Amino acid sequence: MDPRRSTIAAIVTTIVLSLALQGTSAEMGVDRRAVNFNQGWKFAKGSQPGAEKADFDDSAWQAVRLPHDWAISGPFNPTENGYAGKLPWKGDGWYRKTFKLDKVADGQRVYFDFDGVMAFPKVYVNGQLAGQWDYGYMSFRVDATPYVRPGQNTIAVYVDTRNHGTRWYPGAGIYRKVTMTLRYPVHVAHWGTVVTTPSVDDKAATVRVRSTVENHLSTDSKVTVAVTLLDPDGKTVATGEKADTASAGGSQELDQSFTVANPQRWDISKPRLYTARIVVNAGDRVTDAETVPFGIRTFEFTANDGFHLNGRRVQLYGVCLHHDQGPLGAAFYPRAMERQLEIMRDMGVNAIRTSHNPPAPELLDLCDRMGFVVWDEAFDKWDGTADRIRGEPPLEQYGEKQIRNLVMRDRNHPSIVVWSIGNELGGGGRDGVTPQRVKFMSEFVRKYDPTRPVGMANHIPGMAERPNFDALDLTGWNYSRRYAIYRQRYPDKPIIYSESASALSTRGFYELPLLNEKTQYSGQLQVDSYDLNAAAWSDIADSEFQLMEKDKFVAGEFVWTGFDYLGEPTPFSQEAKSSYFGIVDLAGIPKDRYYLYRSYWRPDTTTIHILPHWNWPDRVGQNVPVFVYTNGDSAELFLNGKSLGRRTKGVLPDRPVNFAKGKPVIASSEESSKGNLMALANDSDSTTRWCAADGSTGQWWQVDLGQVQPVRYLLIELEREAKNYGYQIKASTDAATWETIASKDTSRLPQWGGPTQAFHDVNVQARYLQIEFTQLQGGAWAGLREFGAYPAKAESSYYDVTYKYRLRWNDVVYEPGELKVVAYRDGKSIGEAVMRTASAPAVIRLTPDRKALVASGEDLCYILIEALDNKGTLCPLADNLVRFKVEGPAQIAGVGNGNPMSIEPFQADYRKLFFGKAMLILRTKEGQAGTVHVAAESDGLTSGETTVQCR
Ligand code: GAL
Repeated sequence: MDPRRSTIAAIVTTIVLSLALQGTSAEMGVDRRAVNFNQGWKFAKGSQPGAEKADFDDSAWQAVRLPHDWAISGPFNPTENGYAGKLPWKGDGWYRKTFKLDKVADGQRVYFDFDGVMAFPKVYVNGQLAGQWDYGYMSFRVDATPYVRPGQNTIAVYVDTRNHGTRWYPGAGIYRKVTMTLRYPVHVAHWGTVVTTPSVDDKAATVRVRSTVENHLSTDSKVTVAVTLLDPDGKTVATGEKADTASAGGSQELDQSFTVANPQRWDISKPRLYTARIVVNAGDRVTDAETVPFGIRTFEFTANDGFHLNGRRVQLYGVCLHHDQGPLGAAFYPRAMERQLEIMRDMGVNAIRTSHNPPAPELLDLCDRMGFVVWDEAFDKWDGTADRIRGEPPLEQYGEKQIRNLVMRDRNHPSIVVWSIGNELGGGGRDGVTPQRVKFMSEFVRKYDPTRPVGMANHIPGMAERPNFDALDLTGWNYSRRYAIYRQRYPDKPIIYSESASALSTRGFYELPLLNEKTQYSGQLQVDSYDLNAAAWSDIADSEFQLMEKDKFVAGEFVWTGFDYLGEPTPFSQEAKSSYFGIVDLAGIPKDRYYLYRSYWRPDTTTIHILPHWNWPDRVGQNVPVFVYTNGDSAELFLNGKSLGRRTKGVLPDRPVNFAKGKPVIASSEESSKGNLMALANDSDSTTRWCAADGSTGQWWQVDLGQVQPVRYLLIELEREAKNYGYQIKASTDAATWETIASKDTSRLPQWGGPTQAFHDVNVQARYLQIEFTQLQGGAWAGLREFGAYPAKAESSYYDVTYKYRLRWNDVVYEPGELKVVAYRDGKSIGEAVMRTASAPAVIRLTPDRKALVASGEDLCYILIEALDNKGTLCPLADNLVRFKVEGPAQIAGVGNGNPMSIEPFQADYRKLFFGKAMLILRTKEGQAGTVHVAAESDGLTSGETTVQCR
């Protein structure tokens, strides 16, 4: 045996070797080791003077295993605003680990690869600063070669999040994996192999493989790069070899092209992956090898026909995902991500936007393997949320460095179809968009990958009035058709709806009567789950479905968001700790909305979902509307066996008549100079309006209904947000005696935006109705777009669109028992669903997502915990406290229940059910196989249990 090779092979003795290579025996001896470096760390919070030194005493520190997020264990600060989850992520801390290198051969390279450290990591090896990084979401490499020595070594990582800016929960610590890479001095550079497919058709594809080989020796070296291409079944389809000289201390790129006959395409439906196996020879022997998965596919974003993949139009059914994993915090576990993607795929998702930062690299491996296309995003803004403190370092320098790592790391993934240079930047200023900045940022991307389009996500329509986006290949637009101006300016550039449907809901929570405005939120700090709420700047899912059907030139939407995340708890930004935006809750349990998307995005798969639950003891004899989300086009609903009628998609229910429509009006004055006449306030056209002659208070408008009518509901539509108006509404039968029936004051809330409509439940017999403005603020002018008076509650026309995508029985009178729905498609039954009234909770049920786990220390098991009554019906209101006992080779990684208001700890052996459910997440122990026994107990209930196997 080559003596040098045996030295190198002996380098790592006390750590578990995980060979990144599988392959021929010739390659097995290659001098390249990628060592999982996640285990055996010590951690302490605070500044810890001297902790970088090798001989520092860390015996009192906490033993941790990576990935680690120190803040997720809490405690929550209930008085803090919820923007970053009320968790203690701000601070500094240290990680230390010792490791042994028996001998370090001359020139042997030792690298540490960090996938993500929050934030500003400084990496010390044996007391010396070996490297640092300045963006918490970015992967980076530290070359530790000059600092390591034979024998005992110490690595210490200082982390400081205090200067990290954020709009959500960022996590804290070494939250993604760390790898130690040992290489012979002549090796492929970090992220040094690029595979592209310059030409692809059905008969053949050209595959170009470029590997940059570094030579860390002090003499020039002749190097050979041998490439083998394997098809998705592992069969060799092309081989080649190229030789060149890598100069001493330099590097050399070796560029080879191959023809692959009858290429099997990578596609979202069939994500077939090829492999490029690269073997480096220096002198007379193998010095390095690596395998790079890649895909052969074509794609194009078109200006007028959306996104094409392998020659056909594919509508993007996308979701934005933040990086946290709910109860696990920012700590990245591949299985947690895989599970999220499985849930999204079942819903019909085919596209992921990594909002708003580079993801863990495993997310991209998963998307390659599972068949999602990816919008890979560099930054949210170019300021403190990108870790640029007060604009330093200069954007040009900073952008190049971060984009380099992002693009070099990720460019071989076939799943990626867009590089995004940022989200929601303002214009100009120190950190905002200018044509020049967009240009240099885009060019950094193209320098490392000229094969994919460069885009960014925008939210300010007017920014398209200037040449800000000239340098981009495409743009994404967030919300409300804000791309209209851009479309006019750049009719030949593709558009993606990069954020849609910031809709809101709490799993399991319903409130009656139904609300009538998207921003009319419950007073209970939860958001109603009839799916009628959205953020002021956005819309409910159905509106977006309709928009995408209309604007076919748009490539498709990315919903904000697939899963709830920690932080940004609009609309209860102060009180709650996690978002309401998710289609799936923070614990990973689908909300009703999940089935709405599934029914529309997967038209050929049966979905029949009834809402709400059927436990309304206080509403017997009162109205409880029932909605059904189904891919069927019609359905019949039965309550206790009695038909409540059949509903068909696209049919609007009868509306109560508007007594005020077109009736004679008088007003204190009118702005006739601009045509804002008094008769325009009851013409049923909300694009026209009445304005008083001057914008002062005291102005009034009055309608004569023609005869005395029973008025029960008033609908007022204003020019600006309703919060800016105070008014009184009076009623009379004779225009002589008046009674005040409704009034409203101005308000400062919500802080941004807000509804322009106001509704009043009234109960009066009246012929004359008069509205008088008593208060005006924020530039509001006395005036009305519409004034409606109804004999019964009238649903806002905003919700007309819901009848196109949902089936609704609005008038159901509640009685306990059984609701059954039979769904039809093209006249044929596609199935039925049943919802029953539950009696008291009696039993706890445990349902693990998988029964066989890998004893890797990183595999997870998600166990759904539910309360059932004595007949096995889910108890939808149960909030029992459940305690967990875990025996065997696994430990609790987290618990959750999806309640955005809950500040119970995520790391605990108990959890309250929230609307009947909770989640227990177990993590396996490395190298420990066996049976894990899990029991769940709750006072007065029969305990539940389950077992899972670790191998
Ligand atoms: C967008 C923003 C997202 C999130 C979202 C909430 O404008 O890009 O990060 O804040 O609003 O609706």
